[in-house]
Amino acid sequence: MTESEINTILDKIRMEVRTKTGKNIDDFKAAFLERRIRYRMEINGIVNFDEYLKLLSTNLEEANNLYLAFSINVTQFFRDPHVWEKLEKEIIPNLINKSKVHTVYVWSCGCATGEEPYSVSITLNEALKSRDVKYEIFANDINLDAISRAKKGIYRDANLANINTERRVKYFQKLEYDQYQIKSNISNQIKYENIDMMRIAEKKFHMIFCRNVLIYYDKQRYMEIFKKFADSLTENGILILGQNESMFGTIGNKLFSTLYPKERIYQKREE
Ligand SMILES: C[S@@+](CC[C@H](N)C(=O)[O-])C[C@H]1O[C@@H](n2cnc3c(N)ncnc32)[C@H](O)[C@@H]1O
Repeated sequence: MTESEINTILDKIRMEVRTKTGKNIDDFKAAFLERRIRYRMEINGIVNFDEYLKLLSTNLEEANNLYLAFSINVTQFFRDPHVWEKLEKEIIPNLINKSKVHTVYVWSCGCATGEEPYSVSITLNEALKSRDVKYEIFANDINLDAISRAKKGIYRDANLANINTERRVKYFQKLEYDQYQIKSNISNQIKYENIDMMRIAEKKFHMIFCRNVLIYYDKQRYMEIFKKFADSLTENGILILGQNESMFGTIGNKLFSTLYPKERIYQKREE
């Protein structure tokens, strides 16, 4: 197959998913799209794109499965610990002292199975405990199964590698075998929703975590995505990206200034 034939068939596959599921896979990087389609082809024992397109056009379940194949849920509590240290020591104290907020609003975008929003909740719980400041976290993901697991908040011992013993005792309830459940004072602060980030309409967040989500998206879409984040943040709001994501060479630089390049922490520019 030539490259142009592959592109034509990828377009047809995109359209089939959109028509069947109402979901949009147009914004993913072409190479990622192709990899995930090949992955689904292999599962279905199919070796060529035409045949896979035929399957898609007659099988709603496969269209849903293909859509879900774009959701890679790898995550960790306190992923990249140096980022959390910066948040704890610099970003959060600055936010509270300078802007004198009464409630800190946070969006964990692409929250997967909950480790990120729970890390935010633990961090804010500790940072705000001696102050009269509350916090609320909104967390979303396109993957319903991941959101259901996040809501349960049950993890295995191996998932808690970045959680020290003190925090483990304080914030987790030991269950049977090697399982731990996050305590309700930490989970009650989070509202989960199974929704695409581009459909979020709220505009009040002081901080947005969107880590290890954009790596799967085409850079041409970054403008739209960064604009969405800028619109959703309060004045001087903070955006935290993943370690392999950056604003370098994108429109993001016009909307955000870089606060800590190594940690990928950005601040919304004044309008
Ligand atoms: C690799 S995980 C990252 C989890 C967490 N943010 C972290 O850094 O550990 C990426 C998550 O983003 C979700 N995702 C991808 N595109 C999304 C979108 N448009 N809206 C909401 N979630 C999305 C995926 O379903 C997946 O669970």
